[in-house]
Amino acid sequence: MTTPSFTPSTTIPELTKSIVNSTVTPVDMEDDAPLFASSLISPEIISILPTDYTIRPLRRSDYQRGYLDVLRVLTTVGDISEEQWNQRYDWIASRNDEYYMLVICDGQDQIVGTGSLIVERKFIHSLGMVGHIEDIAVEKNQQGKKLGLRIIQALDYVAEKVGCYKSILDCSEANEGFYVKCGFKRAGLEMAHYY
Ligand code: ACO
Repeated sequence: MTTPSFTPSTTIPELTKSIVNSTVTPVDMEDDAPLFASSLISPEIISILPTDYTIRPLRRSDYQRGYLDVLRVLTTVGDISEEQWNQRYDWIASRNDEYYMLVICDGQDQIVGTGSLIVERKFIHSLGMVGHIEDIAVEKNQQGKKLGLRIIQALDYVAEKVGCYKSILDCSEANEGFYVKCGFKRAGLEMAHYY
């Protein structure tokens, strides 16, 4: 990506032409805006990630950074074209006070971990809000570096900031120990009806 350079004598028409000819247009930047406010990412979690790693809200361009491949560690994803990705991304982005999806990138700007928080608005508990933690995945060769823990801590931070009174999740018995280490405790029983 290139950014146009300007001298103090640049005129408005020259400036406009330069922006129009640039590969970075205002529309590009708007299209690739973070899914939700970056201020909802815990500064503490940012500061304790491994060197060169970053944590941030999902962006449309993350299709190109291996987002779906990371999810393949978790389950079947299917063959999703960029057009299909964009359609689903737009739908999610139009509900950006409900969907909080974040990613961890390594030093090469490749996605190595992700997690989602979906905020449900209720009538009960005085119009309470519940966070649903979903689709936690860390790339196989990056597991064991506390990235999963950081993702959960970052989602917890978002949930608290946006006003959830609790967050809940479903997991396999094999992952119970991980979530206990993240501060969760067993509560209730999951039931499913597949269609
Ligand atoms: N069982 C018990 N303890 C575990 C497990 C486990 N399955 N996984 C990690 N831990 C422990 C670690 O040893 C570590 O403990 P320590 O603090 O004493 O050293 C602590 O939990 C934190 O571990 P992380 O290094 O943060 O874990 P990691 O980055 O490997 O991520 C994860 C864990 C997300 C489960 C990863 O292994 C993964 O992506 N697995 C495949 C996909 C998956 O199953 N996702 C969860 C689905 S459930 C859902 O999405 C709601």
